[in-house]
Amino acid sequence: MSLAAIVLAAGLGTRMKSQLPKVLHPLAGRPMLAHLLDNLARLAPQRVAMVIGPGQESVAKVAAPHPCVIQADRLGTAHAALQARPLIDGFQGDVLILFGDTPLVTSRTMEKLVLRRREKDDPAVVVLGFRPSDPAGYGRLVMGDEGLLRIVEVKDASASERAIPWCNSGVMAIDGKILFDLLSKIDNKNAKGEYYLTDLVSLAREAGRICAMVEGSPEELLGINSRAELAQAEAIVQNHMRANAMENGATLIGQETIFFSWDTKLGRDVVVGPNVVFGPGVAVGDAVEIRPFSHLEGCKIASGATVGPFARLRPGADIGQNAHIGNFVEIKKAVVEDGAKVNHLTYIGDARVGAKANVGAGTITCNYDGFGKYHTDIGQNAFIGSNSALVAPVKIGDGAIVGAGSVVTQDVPAGALAVARGRQSVIPGWAESFRAAKTQKKDA
Ligand code: UD1
Ligand code: CA
Repeated sequence: MSLAAIVLAAGLGTRMKSQLPKVLHPLAGRPMLAHLLDNLARLAPQRVAMVIGPGQESVAKVAAPHPCVIQADRLGTAHAALQARPLIDGFQGDVLILFGDTPLVTSRTMEKLVLRRREKDDPAVVVLGFRPSDPAGYGRLVMGDEGLLRIVEVKDASASERAIPWCNSGVMAIDGKILFDLLSKIDNKNAKGEYYLTDLVSLAREAGRICAMVEGSPEELLGINSRAELAQAEAIVQNHMRANAMENGATLIGQETIFFSWDTKLGRDVVVGPNVVFGPGVAVGDAVEIRPFSHLEGCKIASGATVGPFARLRPGADIGQNAHIGNFVEIKKAVVEDGAKVNHLTYIGDARVGAKANVGAGTITCNYDGFGKYHTDIGQNAFIGSNSALVAPVKIGDGAIVGAGSVVTQDVPAGALAVARGRQSVIPGWAESFRAAKTQKKDA
């Protein structure tokens, strides 16, 4: 289809009370704007123009490769859309207008809007409307026999207009042949003194065209203006991802306490326990069990592995098939090969743990000397005794054994035993005579 889109994102987002531009606030671990642009991309528009504020290079980065125009003065939504003229002018197809702060609109809904625009009655403007439980600050849609008559902003609305349940989501599909003509006619004679995009509807009607409304779901059309609305949107996105995960064959125990990132990948028959958090970049294979209170990001877990409870997998953790990562274990930038066990109270960073190796409780890879990071290599079938410190760079050979409590600073050859701790001395009867001497002194 012949489609262009204008995405408005220049608003100050004052109500967020934030240094970060509103549209960069994350939902499920990525900027809300990225969610919207992803959904838009599924419609394969020929042109996309972003309208951003001055100094918002960080927004332009997220918008790339789409070109951005800068709205120097924030004079309202119509003024913002007009800034896109150099990028869209001459386009004869349909133009979709989206708001960066209304990021949950699905591609299916966008498509519905555009298809309505193309129906025989040829509406000039099709507005995506909805009936939220709390219509509070949304513009109201005044409907009549001829479809959508006009949109009135709350601040300009009469009491009876405020009682209208139909609200403006901000999303519109417009006949590209008349868009910029109409936009340039909009004035700012209203309660806010702003150029309202919503005035497009009455102007199109004055020009003899009809306008229409397509209804969308309140969940999709939530506009995010405050942190409270951001939290609401996050809840919607999380619920959606939980439903998806279960649909695809994962069991979620206490699903409302499990949090995903937009790119979390789960295999079949994965079981996730309560209070597990997935940061960005996690891919989990089939039949993996992730026990309660684990925190994972930027990691891979192969099939059959178990992780947690209370495990932390940080970026670069690569857990092999049937490996066990137990409680209070932190893994960073390390490969734990198939069948290896790291079960209790351990830090593994910048390392390889060979297949079927066993790393005892309280083992630490000392990977940092205050300046650089160094690698620890643990061979397959090696056994690291509890409470050992492996001072990197260091290499433990295949099948080697490290005695408990060792501080290992030199490589250990394959098959060897390394014990690096004070030798134990035992003095028979010493405790008894010590106590006797002390008691005598006290009684004296
Ligand atoms: C707007 C609509 C309202 C609708 C609501 C839906 C108008 C006049 N009002 O109100 O009918 O119910 O959205 O959420 O359109 N923006 C700019 N430049 C500006 C002003 C805004 O780029 O000068 C952008 C903002 O970044 C935002 C979007 O436009 O992405 C909407 O602006 P906002 O100020 O949030 O409008 P609302 O008051 O929510
Ligand atoms: Ca808004």
